[in-house]
This record gives sequence, structure tokens and C-alpha cells, in this order.
Amino acid sequence: MKGIVLAGGSGTRLHPMTLAASKQLLPVYDKPMVYYPLSTLMLAGIRDILIISTPEDLPQFRRLLGSGSRFGVSFAYAEQPRPEGIAQAFVIGRDWIGGEPCALALGDNLIHGDHLSTLLRAAAARPHGASVFAYQVRDPERYGVVAFDELGRATDIVEKPDAPRSNWAVTGLYFYDARVSDIAARIKPSARGELEITDLNRVYLEDDSLHVSRLSRGYAWLDAGTPDSLLQAATYVQTIQSRTGMLVGCPEEVAFRMGYIGAAELLEQAQAIGKTELGRVLLELAEEHAT
Ligand code: G1P
Repeated sequence: MKGIVLAGGSGTRLHPMTLAASKQLLPVYDKPMVYYPLSTLMLAGIRDILIISTPEDLPQFRRLLGSGSRFGVSFAYAEQPRPEGIAQAFVIGRDWIGGEPCALALGDNLIHGDHLSTLLRAAAARPHGASVFAYQVRDPERYGVVAFDELGRATDIVEKPDAPRSNWAVTGLYFYDARVSDIAARIKPSARGELEITDLNRVYLEDDSLHVSRLSRGYAWLDAGTPDSLLQAATYVQTIQSRTGMLVGCPEEVAFRMGYIGAAELLEQAQAIGKTELGRVLLELAEEHAT
């Protein structure tokens, strides 16, 4: 399975921070925001990743991420000239996807929790349909919202409803089967002129092939699209990392734990990060496993 990180948009809810910088490159505590969704895809076992951003910001992503070899993965890059919707990622990426199944992670989403890798790999391994994750929030009207029947089956999915039928928001992490590019190509822009990811998901729902996993309270799902959520995400990462010594959303660590790179490569990466706490934790991990 391939994967896309969508890091486009104009970040208007973070102005003036995003007037001259891409939202997804802003720091979330000790790492650039895009590291978190990237780590999520890598944890799902995905090593072929397309980064989509605006023509202005894409060079900065290339500078930060390069070929992907230092994470033991392969990055490709593509432009989204205008913010015309999340589902457009599959239209832009169509040739690169080449008719394979493909996942999508929004560049401002952070998911963290126990056994996340197992959950993600199960979604990636499902050969037919789409898999999305729902998370209980206090402000569902900000998100895509999914309603369930009494048996827990998804019955409806609506983008930013005025009157949400549940408080289960759809997170910005999606897994699709090989049909995704064809389906995305047929979607019509919404009233706000965007190809809505919720419309794509609704096609799968109507086809009876949308799999919705409800994330329990053991997981954290955060987006970092507003000043408050950006600060909350940073505080979350700081709290977990400084309390436990374990890293959140660190692609070097994920690459090592998933076996994409070895201890020698990890050591090199740790040294490149230098004299920071992050560098120190990675160095310790590399030295622990050095032969
Ligand atoms: C987008 C999607 C929405 C989803 C959310 C998750 O909204 O349209 O369905 O719940 O991401 O972060 P946006 O944040 O782009 O407004």
C-alpha cells in the first residue's frame, strides 16, 4: 500500500503564523508538524509516500524530508496549486498511485496510542473498501461526523454539520482500496468549491464498504489547525515525552523500530539532530542496539 501526506492549504486559521510559512512545518513541541502524520503512515507499514503541498511550500518539504532514505522510505512530491479539497490528493496523485491501494494522512493530524501499529496494519491489510477512524470530541461540528445505528454500524457521514447526529468525528487518516483514484475523479466540488473527503467516504459507505473503527479513550487524536489546538498538541507531546522518555511522532524512531533502518543508520540520524533532547533519546536507542 502507498500513502499520501497532504500538507497543502493556506492555514488561514493560523494567520499570521502561516502568512510566510507552511502550517505543516510549524513546530509541534520538538518536531515539525508533518513528522506526526508521516510517522503514522510509517507505523502502518507504508514506505512509499507522496508529499503534496502548495507550489510555494513544496521546496521546504523537500529540504526537510529529502528522498526518504534516512527514514528507510521513499518520498515523492507533488503540487496542489489551489486548496481545492482533500479528496483532490487522489486526483493529483493518480499516476503515482498507479492503481494501488492508498492511504492518506492529513498533515496536521496527530494520532497516538497503545497498539496503534496493530490497528493501522489491520486497516492497511484490508483488501476491499475504505477504513476510517472515529474519535469522540466535544465539538463535532468542526469535523466530518459519522452516525451509527444501534448495532454500531455507520449509517451516515456528514461534513461539518450544523446539528451533528453524534459526537464521533472522522479523523484525518484514511485507507482506501485500489478504486480510490477512479472514485475521487468522479466526485463533484461541494458548495465551498472543494472535493470533500467526506463525499469520497460517502461513496464507500453507500457501497457498504466503509469500515469505521471507533478509537477508544486509550488514544489521543489531535489536530493542530488553530492556535489552541496547536498548543494542545505541543503540550501533549511534551507531557508524554518528558514523563515517559518515549517519543511521539518521531520518524527516525519509527523507522528503526519497524526495521526500515538499522542501528548504524539511527546513530547517524541521532548525531545529525545534534545536542537536543530528541537527539539524545535517539542516540541512547541506537547505542542500546549497537552490536
Ligand atoms: C478535514 C475533513 C474532516 C475531518 C478533519 C480531520 O477538515 O474535511 O472531515 O474530520 O479534516 O482533521 P478540515 O480540518 O480540513 O476543516
